Amino acid sequence: KKSQKEPKNEKIQDLHVNTEDGSGEMMTNNQGVGINDDQNSLLAGERGPTLLEDFQFREKMTHFDHERIPERIVHARGEGAHGYFESYGDFSELTKASFLGEKGKRTPVFARFSTVAGFRGSTDLARDVRGFAVKFYTDEGNYDLVGNNMPVFFIQDAMKFPDLIHAVKPEQDNEIPQAASAHNTFWDFISLMPESMHMIMWAMSDRALPRSLAMMEGFGVHTFRFVNAKGKSSFVKFHWKPKLGTHSVTWEEAQKISGQDPDFHRRDLWNAIESGNFPEWEFGVQVVREEDEHKFDFDLLDPTKLIPEELVQVQILGKMVLNRNPDNFFAETEQIAFHPGHLVPGIDFTNDPLLQGRLFSYTDTQLSRLGGPNFAEIPINRPIVPVHNNQRGGSMRLTINKGKGGYHPNQGNGGCPYQAAMADGGFVSHHERIEGYKIRKRSKSFLDHFSQAKLFYESQTALEQRHIIEALRFELGKVTDEKIRERMVGMLSYVNKELAKNVAEGLGIKEIKTPEKPLNHSYGADANPQDYQPTTV
Ligand code: HEM
Repeated sequence: KKSQKEPKNEKIQDLHVNTEDGSGEMMTNNQGVGINDDQNSLLAGERGPTLLEDFQFREKMTHFDHERIPERIVHARGEGAHGYFESYGDFSELTKASFLGEKGKRTPVFARFSTVAGFRGSTDLARDVRGFAVKFYTDEGNYDLVGNNMPVFFIQDAMKFPDLIHAVKPEQDNEIPQAASAHNTFWDFISLMPESMHMIMWAMSDRALPRSLAMMEGFGVHTFRFVNAKGKSSFVKFHWKPKLGTHSVTWEEAQKISGQDPDFHRRDLWNAIESGNFPEWEFGVQVVREEDEHKFDFDLLDPTKLIPEELVQVQILGKMVLNRNPDNFFAETEQIAFHPGHLVPGIDFTNDPLLQGRLFSYTDTQLSRLGGPNFAEIPINRPIVPVHNNQRGGSMRLTINKGKGGYHPNQGNGGCPYQAAMADGGFVSHHERIEGYKIRKRSKSFLDHFSQAKLFYESQTALEQRHIIEALRFELGKVTDEKIRERMVGMLSYVNKELAKNVAEGLGIKEIKTPEKPLNHSYGADANPQDYQPTTV
């Protein structure tokens, strides 16, 4: 029942210029010429061959032949919707970001949810992490919050990301199995990667099987910065809290649903919006003053750690409402290009080595996924504010730039006749002091891989713990290599002895061999291994 009057949304208005509605109109080809037969090719004689000159046929078939683009290298399976973000107040003390500067201010958004490992057509209810990406079309340009539904990540350094994904994707010789994690290569990698243990607890928990996308939390994962107009910065962790609460299905339910309706989450999101039950999340931040950076027993730059909410409360700043389904899945949901480096003034990065690597990866992949350097001009990606710069060429250039410009400086600087000029008021990177040697070495402050894994496991109810044990039994039960199973159980014993014992029993492992020192390939070539005694619990 789409009858409800749609509230004003600048992004939807912006998309109108590219939106067409052919109902009741005459069909045309791409040159605008009317088509009176779209069903029969032009033949040389009633039973003769098709003529090469049949431009109607050629155009129809050529477009069809090219209507796929590469799926995302990760997060290929996803669905999205339009909506708005509303600020609950004026938070300019914290950040100069204008979308958080005024009570009641609304900013259009497009959100896309995804699984990570599966292909574009894979089931929604695979045991997996969920992507939670939101593009804010702010009045200062686009801001992307590219998060997940779990607050930590598998690895601490982006250099390992291709390995992680190669391990989790189907095996390279036979492309089996499609399931996210239940196989040798994934558990081989994980059992050699102590830093992944906290994330593994989340991934084996009920959080990996959301009941609905609207019943899922979201997290920015990395520590970011807020910066206010005076240049004062604080560290922040981003949170999305679903209005409907956080709920999951059981593994038995997930398996049945995957068979009966692999589009379960996609259908649920679509139907909720069509019927006017708009999904909502509150947006919050944990704020840490710059001077408190080192007061925790973990490193704020380490993406395998969260800040327990008992230590720093989540301060709610606003809400997101998704109230409009896309008109064209491909043009909107498939072509949207998120990037953790799309920032607006008032938000900045930290030196988290995972985040730093992500800043390279997204544009790089989108250059091939979306066919060249002009994908920011695709309607769903372009900001609602004007774009003026010196970019002119490249495959599929859409904007027609006036004047003789394309360079800077030029003699018209200031009241420039040719092109836009630089001016104060734009994005300024936070003036963080940096010094040090170029070095490949993991900070020792990143080396406690087990305390938070333990904290998570032990904070679960008995039933939730049972689910984690059963998930590990199921997943590791598929692993055919005994050494991997044993090494994994050994690693689990650092998290919780009972957990390891229970998993071992399920796998028929009689003796748990706790590795003296868990293997770790992460110290770095410039490190002295003697300095690194990984903490055990
Ligand atoms: C998608 C790389 C870690 C969240 C992607 C894509 C790449 C990528 C290449 C595909 C983008 C596209 O085709 O448009 C990486 C790398 C990482 C990393 C190199 C670590 C070094 C993370 C983390 C999060 C995350 C920690 C969560 C905080 C997402 C999401 C998407 C995505 C939500 C899907 C965006 C969409 O819906 O289009 N990532 N990623 N990634 N990534 Fe990451």
